[in-house]
Amino acid sequence: MRLIPLRSADEMGQWAARYIADKINQFHPTADKPFVLGCPTGSSPLATYRELIRLFQAGEVSFQHVVTFNMDEYVGLPSNHPQSYRYFMFNNFFNHIDINHDNVHLLNGNAADLDKECHEYEEKIRQFGQIHLFMGGVGSDGHIAFNEPGSSLASRTRVKTLTKETLQANARFFDDINEVPKMALTIGVGTLLDAQEVLVLVDGHHKAQALHAAVEGNVTHQWTVSAMQMHPKCMIVCDEPATDEL
Ligand code: GLP
Repeated sequence: MRLIPLRSADEMGQWAARYIADKINQFHPTADKPFVLGCPTGSSPLATYRELIRLFQAGEVSFQHVVTFNMDEYVGLPSNHPQSYRYFMFNNFFNHIDINHDNVHLLNGNAADLDKECHEYEEKIRQFGQIHLFMGGVGSDGHIAFNEPGSSLASRTRVKTLTKETLQANARFFDDINEVPKMALTIGVGTLLDAQEVLVLVDGHHKAQALHAAVEGNVTHQWTVSAMQMHPKCMIVCDEPATDEL
């Protein structure tokens, strides 16, 4: 695991965006072999998306041959709800770059059969062979995507009930904690471990324990991000306050 400590969340965004743009530019896509990028939501990746948009506008990167798969989605929120991860991704990223919207994959938290939706998502990823670079954030309890404490480290895309801690943490985006969906669809820890490369963004003092667990703790399903220690090519990009427990 490679740890890249930087001064601020803005610096993290610049570093991560440059890294992703370079990866896309170095890749030689063909019609049936595009660059496959895994995308997170939340506040952690916002600076990275802003910088990727700037790099696109400056002509330094194009997403024409990029396919994306998002990490997770709430169950039951209308897709045009401002807190749905679909809305977040189009609003903060996809609407501002030259990606073909047919190349964007998001889990549908309103699918009639959620298990089938999850199974088909894994199938779609498999059709592309592998996710080349999966970017992720982490919850203060060490969850990655919505792989809550106690998740199997071999898990695949599935329906997950959210913990009280996650409902509380995500309540800041809603008018009332009771509006936070209690369930989500999420890629599994195993899905993430299958990616060629993983880039995790961790910022803020409130993530310091999670960073400690990820870098210095034992691999445990109580801090699912710690499973990234088993990944042959995982990088964690963090800011100074996040390193307080290292
Ligand atoms: C949610 C998401 C995670 C995200 C985490 C941290 O629970 N499902 O994918 O990494 O929140 O969010 P933030 O970046 O806003 O701290």
